Amino acid sequence: MSHIVAPSILAADFANIQRDVEMVNESSAQWLHIDIMDGVFVPNISFGMPVLKAMTKHSDKVNDVHLMIVDPDRYISTFKACGADVLTVHYEACTHLHRTIQAIKGEGMKAGVALNPHTPVRLLEDILGDLDLVCLMSVNPGFGGQGFIENTYNKIEALAEMRRQRELAFHIEIDGGVTVENAARLVDAGATVLVAGSTVFKSDTPMDTVDRLLSLEVAG
Ligand code: DX5
Ligand code: ZN
Repeated sequence: MSHIVAPSILAADFANIQRDVEMVNESSAQWLHIDIMDGVFVPNISFGMPVLKAMTKHSDKVNDVHLMIVDPDRYISTFKACGADVLTVHYEACTHLHRTIQAIKGEGMKAGVALNPHTPVRLLEDILGDLDLVCLMSVNPGFGGQGFIENTYNKIEALAEMRRQRELAFHIEIDGGVTVENAARLVDAGATVLVAGSTVFKSDTPMDTVDRLLSLEVAG
């Protein structure tokens, strides 16, 4: 199965969001990753619903919305109305995760769960069959441009093995510190979605960088 690249709009120029969303539209990326932070679950605030809605209005890609917020159940139908196609909540932020996942799917979205770097993949054992995606955070969530946490490779391998044994087909998404240098190893380990913020948007040639992340060609 070929993998998906999801540029993370957090690293875009927020004074030129439409331009940057259109750049992603023109690129070979299949998804657009959009981070929502509430200043409570993570020590940062990104943007809220009106900005999300304005972004998805211009996006031709699958809108992959990553919620770093407490109590996401309050807003699931709102995020659908704002254009989310895939909605990912944090394991650490959901008391009744099963109910939350069913609510996301009930709205017609794909449902994902994100794990912080310290949260073991085995905690998902009893919900895996309900998920479309597991997002492994390879940095502590809250900011772009951080260094990749190496233990993520072990988590990808463990999760990919659970996926194989159970004959499931959920995506394994890697979020944080993805580069053209580590992309191939991530996909080899079992990742199927690579989120890339700084690597794409801080590149001089963002569309070529997307191509390199897709072809797994290491930068020269
Ligand atoms: C971090 C966000 C990421 C972020 C990744 O909390 O979830 O999506 O944009 O940024 P980079 O790719 O720069 O590490
Ligand atoms: Zn994210």
